[in-house]
Amino acid sequence: MTQEYGKGTSLSYNKYLKVRELIELQETLSEPKSHDELLFIIIHQTYELWFKQILHEVDATVGWINEGRMFRANHSLKAVIAIERILVKQIHILETMAPIGFLEFRDKLNPASGFQSMQFRELEFSSGAKDERILNSFKNDDFAFERLSKRFDSPSLADAFWALVERQGLASGSHDEKVAAVVEILTHPETYPELYNMQDLLIEHDELIVAWRYNHIQMVERMLGMKRGTGGSEGVGYLKTTLGKKFFPELWEARTYLTVNSLKDAQ
Ligand code: HEM
Repeated sequence: MTQEYGKGTSLSYNKYLKVRELIELQETLSEPKSHDELLFIIIHQTYELWFKQILHEVDATVGWINEGRMFRANHSLKAVIAIERILVKQIHILETMAPIGFLEFRDKLNPASGFQSMQFRELEFSSGAKDERILNSFKNDDFAFERLSKRFDSPSLADAFWALVERQGLASGSHDEKVAAVVEILTHPETYPELYNMQDLLIEHDELIVAWRYNHIQMVERMLGMKRGTGGSEGVGYLKTTLGKKFFPELWEARTYLTVNSLKDAQ
């Protein structure tokens, strides 16, 4: 029990989880040390760890969908959603940082920005929102560019879902057919229980990322007002333009066309 960290051969909690390495990973830049910088680093690192886990689940989900294992895929999507609910709320911890406390070290961060979060972009790309301009903005970061290029060129979660819908004989690729397929699934949940659950989980994934964007924008405005971002964007004005991004636009659009008549027609 008294074994020192790193000595001896038996496993310990600290050894297994690399706690020593973990708590050495927060290197503050402010001089003199600004109290709030540690919180700023820890919250970002925590987000990045959860992004890693979400990517792990999304990658596995794509594989399971391709194998037709809908129950298993839905189970992983539930994990994605549970994590994202935390991510949406977690942003509020940053709001305990006083705006003046943030300004003590903000200049040191230039030109780094959340805009460059490789894993957030991986999450967007692998879910279905690919953007070549964003990919190219990573050209000077070989490690990130390679990972993002791979995701850019691989089928996304959205692609896997639509291929599954197609294999079930509900659509054959066009936008309108995808929308019609979702109307059909929404109209007959008991005929397509796993597909129904899947579209519900996917739309929630979409919704939670928008909720995260919204909370992030509110937090940024509370912290910075309308100042420009360290990444060089306009700041809040730019961030608001991202609110319309959707991974599964057809799932949303189908709600517009859903009527009780689609049910009556089928009866
Ligand atoms: C005081 C805290 C924060 C401030 C003031 C802030 C500010 C900003 C600003 C102004 C941008 C626009 C790009 C730019 O010009 O820099 C941005 C983008 C971004 N930030 Fe933050 N941020 C904060 C915390 C966080 C946290 C905790 C995360 C978690 C990962 C995060 C993730 C992102 C992401 C992913 C983007 C890109 C969004 C997009 O382009 O769709 N930020 N942030």
